[in-house]
Amino acid sequence: MRIVIINITSNSRRFTMYVCVCKAVTDKQIKSAINNGYCSRKDLNECLGVGTVCGKCSPQVKQLLDEHRAQTPIMWATA
Ligand code: FES
Repeated sequence: MRIVIINITSNSRRFTMYVCVCKAVTDKQIKSAINNGYCSRKDLNECLGVGTVCGKCSPQVKQLLDEHRAQTPIMWATA
């Protein structure tokens, strides 16, 4: 059974979704960590603890990483 808690704030029309219920980690916290250089599930496991209890959040964490990668331009270096 998966429990997703959504906290809707009507004034700003922004919402927060708990991705990892076991560690009470939201999507915003994960996106912030990704933007600050935590670029793998292992990094996020170590920094936020996501996926370290039941592991049911791992697909959503992977999806957030994949979305970030899709939005990030690839930089090529040449010698
Ligand atoms: S929901 Fe993330 S470890 Fe259980």
